[in-house]
Amino acid sequence: MLRVTSLSSYYGKIRALKNVSLHIKPKEFVSLIGSNGAGKTTLLNSIMGHIQKKEGEIYFNNTDITNLKPEKIVNLGIGFVPEGRRIFTDMTVEENLEMGAFIIKNKDKIKENLEFLFDIFPILKERRKQQAGMLSGGEQQMLAISRALMSSPKILLMDEPSMGLAPKVITELYEKLSLLKNAGLTIFLVEQNAKIALKYSDRSYVLENGRIILQGKSSELLQDNELLRAYLGKEYKEKWER
Ligand SMILES: Nc1ncnc2c1ncn2[C@@H]1O[C@H](COP(=O)(O)OP(=O)(O)OP(=O)(O)O)[C@@H](O)[C@H]1O
Ligand SMILES: [Mg+2]
Repeated sequence: MLRVTSLSSYYGKIRALKNVSLHIKPKEFVSLIGSNGAGKTTLLNSIMGHIQKKEGEIYFNNTDITNLKPEKIVNLGIGFVPEGRRIFTDMTVEENLEMGAFIIKNKDKIKENLEFLFDIFPILKERRKQQAGMLSGGEQQMLAISRALMSSPKILLMDEPSMGLAPKVITELYEKLSLLKNAGLTIFLVEQNAKIALKYSDRSYVLENGRIILQGKSSELLQDNELLRAYLGKEYKEKWER
């Protein structure tokens, strides 16, 4: 569904991504894990058309999207939840969701999407008249995800959905992502939180210094002690090396 081939992305002369190749099949839940500064955000911004200076190819189904504008990419069916959520805090929950549906012309479809999302995220239904800025961090992330899904994307890209959330809230959020996957959504997310991403995704890639250094089934990568030691740091040591 999405295929990135030998992608290198640049900030001026700095090559932030180096020959990155990856793919995501329909209905797969794929994660890419990497520490601070590995290039995770750069990768998603490159796919979404926010970074122009790049080499390589990005295909969405049979369309070459490498050099398309961001609006065009969204219109083709790629939903995006950026780092830090970026919802409209002084608008209501419902208004945020309506904004997400701006490319959908069919009113019935908008209503159908809204009902589906309120089913998955009942808290958003409860709070639909409230200002989005009043929501908790976890609820704001659920709103950001729902807003992206209002445009009926075929694949959802997410930048560190767990960022800044408490462990219990992170688990709750990933349970919702599982529900969305079971409903047929294709998911690609990037995370520093390797443990949660590996636990919930089907396959994973590991990015280090702009390069993919490892890939495989998430359940198998979860058995990789070296990897866990490198990416789970202190938490891993406390649990396994006491
Ligand atoms: N606008 C920019 N101009 C120059 N260099 C940048 C810019 N944005 C990111 N970089 C550099 O590119 C590299 C990758 O950054 P990126 O933000 O993609 O990492 P990340 O994996 O998303 O990190 P984090 O986990 O902190 O979000 C880093 O070395 C960073 O300093
Ligand atoms: Mg980032």
